[in-house]
Amino acid sequence: MIPGANPIPILALFYLLHSSEETCPSMCLCTSDTVSCSSSGLTKLPKFLPKFFVTLDLNHNHISWLGAGSFSRMSRLENLRMAHNQMTSLTYGLFQNASSIRYLDLSSNKLQVVEQHYFQGLWRMEELMLFNNKITQVEAGTLSGLSSLKKAYFSLNQLTNFPFFSIQDHSHPFLTMLDLSSNRMTRLPWEDLKALPSLVQRGLFLHNNSLICDCSMYSVFWHWDLRGYDTLRDFTEEHICSIYGDPRASIQFLRHTRFFNNCTVEGAVSQPVTVLLSKVLVTEGQRVRLDCQTSLSGANLSYAWLTPKQGVITQYNINDTLMSMSANGTLEMQAAKVNDSGLYVCTAVDSIQVLNATREINVTVLLPAAESFNTGYTTLLGCVVTMILILVYLYLTPCRCSCCKQPKPPVIPVGACDPGNLTSVFSPCTADQHKIHGNKHVAFMQPMLSEEGLEWTSES
Ligand SMILES: *[C@@H]1O[C@H](CO)[C@@H](O)[C@H](O)[C@H]1NC(C)=O
Ligand SMILES: *[C@@H]1O[C@H](CO)[C@@H](O)[C@H](O)[C@H]1NC(C)=O
Ligand SMILES: *[C@@H]1O[C@H](CO)[C@@H](O)[C@H](O)[C@H]1NC(C)=O
Ligand SMILES: *[C@@H]1O[C@H](CO)[C@@H](O)[C@H](O)[C@H]1NC(C)=O
Ligand SMILES: *[C@@H]1O[C@H](CO)[C@@H](O)[C@H](O)[C@H]1NC(C)=O
Ligand SMILES: *[C@@H]1O[C@H](CO)[C@@H](O)[C@H](O)[C@H]1NC(C)=O
Ligand SMILES: *[C@@H]1O[C@H](CO)[C@@H](O)[C@H](O)[C@H]1NC(C)=O
Ligand SMILES: *[C@@H]1O[C@H](CO)[C@@H](O)[C@H](O)[C@H]1NC(C)=O
Repeated sequence: MIPGANPIPILALFYLLHSSEETCPSMCLCTSDTVSCSSSGLTKLPKFLPKFFVTLDLNHNHISWLGAGSFSRMSRLENLRMAHNQMTSLTYGLFQNASSIRYLDLSSNKLQVVEQHYFQGLWRMEELMLFNNKITQVEAGTLSGLSSLKKAYFSLNQLTNFPFFSIQDHSHPFLTMLDLSSNRMTRLPWEDLKALPSLVQRGLFLHNNSLICDCSMYSVFWHWDLRGYDTLRDFTEEHICSIYGDPRASIQFLRHTRFFNNCTVEGAVSQPVTVLLSKVLVTEGQRVRLDCQTSLSGANLSYAWLTPKQGVITQYNINDTLMSMSANGTLEMQAAKVNDSGLYVCTAVDSIQVLNATREINVTVLLPAAESFNTGYTTLLGCVVTMILILVYLYLTPCRCSCCKQPKPPVIPVGACDPGNLTSVFSPCTADQHKIHGNKHVAFMQPMLSEEGLEWTSES
């Protein structure tokens, strides 16, 4: 047959190829930017999908395997939902050329080992859902390169460990939630957990695991509890550990702390043991409050502070107009002076149980340096320049669209309200920041204690 002699099949083929790119598979529903093929009995990806879409919903199907580069032609794919399928592993290169993905839901599948290569290249990914699989291991490099990650869900799996060390400030600057609850962790590398960025620590869920009660574990949770993290508050009862690893002897360790009494006194009552050393950094003239929060609690405690300037201070011998101490042990300085800097050691004594525990706070009072003014000045200048640029943008940019969209409100630079460098210049900032954290359970030092101000020490 002479090519082209019968144009109809060729035309039909052309039509088919062309239209297949545009039309919606019969089992799916397609809207402007969404293709929904949920609960469609699919065992593999539909062969032809519309060209451009942002969301692909494949939830509740029977997909057990996908080939390399399955999503590579979906250049705008941001949300990939594949919950409730049958995936046991992911092919090498599955997400090749799919780096537009920002939200990936693989929950309720049958994944077993999360291999290092699984999410390689997904540097825009913000949310990763892997809960309710059969995951026993997450390989060390899995999260590396996922620099946009904000939330990662690994709960309801069979994990006994997790590569905490692979998460650092610079590697995952936006990570604020790591859910490892309802797994099978018994012991964790607590030193690695203490080294996690504070935002990750704040958003780390570890309840309903199989933790074994011991002092190193307790000391980590004790710190988090002290800082009032919601991750602990919201699941107080689900924080359980088993005594000597015996699951029948489980205690809710945030409620019942008696088992850990020996952690701070190490069995030797006569030896006061430092619970923690924290650091406080203030500028001269600020009000400072130091809480004497130790492992001891109860009504019959008495407190004493050893201060660098005045020696031992108790509620009764205090002789300083600028300093006061309340019955609960809180020491308050009305206006800190540079020469107030130094180590403050508080001892709480329980005279009935003959126990005492100490807490050390390293206070550094800085002169309100010219530098902080400069920072404030620079920020102010930055604001002015930004405003000018916005005005220039508003009035000089030719308005192309007919509707003339409202410009977004200018974003206020985060630094502008950072109490760390501006307290002395714009005190309202401090007040606002303060309100935001107003319901924090314990604040060591009211005006400007940042979370980084609390330092870990190992119990000795
Ligand atoms: C990925 O993209 C590159 C260049 O954009 C291309 O050369 C390569 O063939 C693509 N890979 C797949 C599996 O589509
Ligand atoms: C605790 O974890 C187990 C599996 O490890 C799960 O079956 C159970 O539902 C979880 N309980 C809660 C309260 O989350
Ligand atoms: C704490 O120490 C006391 C005295 O050494 C001991 O009798 C007690 O069993 C210890 N408690 C725990 C929970 O280990
Ligand atoms: C702590 O307790 C021990 C023994 O009870 C006692 O000798 C010591 O003086 C106490 N320390 C303080 C600062 O009260
Ligand atoms: C308080 O200190 C002043 C001098 O610093 C001293 O004269 C006075 O006696 C002290 N009062 C008490 C109650 O210790
Ligand atoms: C101690 O009491 C003072 C007021 O007397 C209060 O401001 C402070 O928050 C209390 N500290 C603690 C830890 O309860
Ligand atoms: C600490 O500094 C203040 C002024 O900043 C001064 O009045 C006071 O005498 C100093 N105290 C000591 C013990 O040096
Ligand atoms: C307290 O902190 C300052 C500054 O960070 C440091 O130079 C000093 O050595 C610390 N003191 C103690 C006792 O840790």
